[in-house]
Amino acid sequence: MKHLFIASCLFIAFAVPAAEPSLYHEGWIDLDKNGKMDVYENPALPLPERVYDLMERMTLEEKIGQLWQSDFGSNPDTVFAGRLARGEISSFLDGSSLIETPVMRNKLQHLAVERSRLGIPLILGHDSIHGFRTIFPIPLAQACAWEPALFERTQMISARESAAAGIDWAFAPMVDLARDPRWGRIAEGFGEDPWLGMLDAAASVRGFQGIPQGGMIDSNHIVACLKHYVGYGAAEGGRDYNTTEISEYTLRNFYLPQFKAGVDAGAWTVMSAFNCLSGMPASANRHTLTEILLDEWHFPGFVISDWDAVNELIPHGVAADEAEAARLAIIAGVDMEMASSNYVDTLKQQVEQGTVPEAVVDEAVRRVLTVKFAKGLFDQPYVDETRCQTAFLRPDALALAREAAAKSCVLLKNENGALPVSRQVKKVALIGPLAEETEELVGCWASRFHAEDVVSLAVGVREKIPVDARLTVARGCAIVEPASGQTRSHFGVPSPVIEKLTGTNEIAGAVAVANAADVVIMALGEPRDWSGESSSRSELGLPGRQQELFDAVAATGKPVIVVLLNGRPLALPRLQEKAAAILEAWFPGVQGGNGVADVLFGDVDPAGRLTTTFPYSVGQVPIHYNHFNTGRPGSGEYKGNYEDGPNTPLYPFGFGLAYTTFEFGKVELSAPEMKAGKTLTAHVQIKNTGTRAGTEVAQLYVRDVATSAGPRPVRELKGFQKVLLQPGESRDVTFALSDKELGYYDARGNWLVEPGKFEVWICRDSASGDPADFEVVK
Ligand code: NOJ
Repeated sequence: MKHLFIASCLFIAFAVPAAEPSLYHEGWIDLDKNGKMDVYENPALPLPERVYDLMERMTLEEKIGQLWQSDFGSNPDTVFAGRLARGEISSFLDGSSLIETPVMRNKLQHLAVERSRLGIPLILGHDSIHGFRTIFPIPLAQACAWEPALFERTQMISARESAAAGIDWAFAPMVDLARDPRWGRIAEGFGEDPWLGMLDAAASVRGFQGIPQGGMIDSNHIVACLKHYVGYGAAEGGRDYNTTEISEYTLRNFYLPQFKAGVDAGAWTVMSAFNCLSGMPASANRHTLTEILLDEWHFPGFVISDWDAVNELIPHGVAADEAEAARLAIIAGVDMEMASSNYVDTLKQQVEQGTVPEAVVDEAVRRVLTVKFAKGLFDQPYVDETRCQTAFLRPDALALAREAAAKSCVLLKNENGALPVSRQVKKVALIGPLAEETEELVGCWASRFHAEDVVSLAVGVREKIPVDARLTVARGCAIVEPASGQTRSHFGVPSPVIEKLTGTNEIAGAVAVANAADVVIMALGEPRDWSGESSSRSELGLPGRQQELFDAVAATGKPVIVVLLNGRPLALPRLQEKAAAILEAWFPGVQGGNGVADVLFGDVDPAGRLTTTFPYSVGQVPIHYNHFNTGRPGSGEYKGNYEDGPNTPLYPFGFGLAYTTFEFGKVELSAPEMKAGKTLTAHVQIKNTGTRAGTEVAQLYVRDVATSAGPRPVRELKGFQKVLLQPGESRDVTFALSDKELGYYDARGNWLVEPGKFEVWICRDSASGDPADFEVVK
């Protein structure tokens, strides 16, 4: 089989030197040696027909080759040339620096398409998690915007940049529900709420894949991957990769809904997780991978394992050797193996011996090929190598990165109007180890960011104040103490308009700088690689000497404004007590300094709200708003109290302040009862009682008071609306309540809406407001 470019009809030799013309040609079309177009090569034919035709032509070895994703490594075009020619590799995972242009990708594709017997194209995957070159705020931060459309927009840019670099497939979104801030990967998800998580998951899928026309993904979009299926976020002790024990009831109601929403939104791939889920590793779990994902949800795409997760079935203790690991995983429903090569090494023999049915291999291959066809890889396997020259950091991408950074900010405290800072300020002290950081601001999984693309907080603040105003920056201490050998902090690019304080006693120096200033801002937080994969924490305070630095600066008596730059909820009761203002800015991405400064100086109103509970102390963890009641919820000695600290968190789910104040009226219902299958409306009057315009996030919570299949949480988020109100303005905010908001899953996955009493709140966060109640009747 030979593939020709119709436009040029030129044979392009293997080992194309860099100066050779691009392999990409408009109107590329797949023909065999005799100029014939086979059924599978014909773009005009329906996808299942093409898949069927191709599979009819494939040998068992070629089929098994479609089930392996290899690491890119270095010199992949030389290292893998033979295997590609034999059709033994289906996909590459790029973790290398070779990808910022599609040149290497096209070379590898050329080997697969031109050298192999059937010319099946590769699909190239990459961790484009929250941006490619334009890095947006970490997902946990973006979730705090309570604006799923923001994910659609940022992942659309992420897809555009990734596609221009030759990537076909993002290992995102991560939709794992997380309740434990010790777990570093909490940074990569949407937080602790399944309802909000479902909306964010679906929006992310739409952003990556676009609106598929007839299921085909165009050249500006890439395949999405819902990960990590499933339960990965519930790791014991927040220790990454660890065991999870999740009841079927909790799995159905908390951990699975985001995956279901992503599948319903059209996600073409799912990644099986590392963790052992209730006694069976997630990557060998037939119940979740086949019974739920395929049989119940009818997922049409394919499942890829996480990195080495098939081989890890051996240390997990459920497989004795590589062959058994491969057998367990493929029979459970893992179609493609990432990194480890147990499938390609053992499946042929196992099929021949009859221990793995060939039909199981065929089904996996059919799924993989379906996605490759849907991505259009057979019809245009190459990527235009000129596109990447203009694809990155475009003005619309940077404007969105700035908007997202500002929208992700959550105002946690604001005493005596410490914020916003006046633009007429004359002397600003910016203190703290993150004040001038650039690369730290991008957070974990920052793909192809360049440090020089990142706007630091110092630069963002400098832009806001008058030219003759003075900004003095004092680091104060390192992010992490050098004693632990983990310091990462450094001063940024020298600037003539930002004075810097250096010296041996940095804390004393910082105090002096604070004393001399009109406004004191502190930039405190975590190093970026303390969150993300394998980056758990056992403490949730500020690392290094940062708490000491804060205490010393606060002791000056100056009102201190703290900007937090971090990847997880932190437990900071002393900051809450002593700071004048706290702005949670997370890791805000390449435009972080500008976006955060927009909020600090009041050009953008803080409208972010927390999507994870902030504990008072690490001992409270896990703590989340949507917990079940105990049998002793009241007050008193036997309530289940901590003897040495509060039971309530520092900041609840949904919490966040504005620069103005809002008053919520009483919740009113359209009727005292609702017939199952019908709709009821709940509404409330919200008034801006302050002197500035501001945005409130009205949050709808419900509680089903008595249920048959298991208890329901004390509150569950079931809707929200962002409402911009002028000073003194009132607005009636209305929510519809239907089966969608009032039902729940039993342990078998049946959706139940049961008659009986419900409570409903419309309020500013998960810990405020008074409920109204109504009955659901048959
Ligand atoms: C392991 C991580 O768990 C997963 O999220 C990631 O996509 C893969 N490695 C590939 O880098």
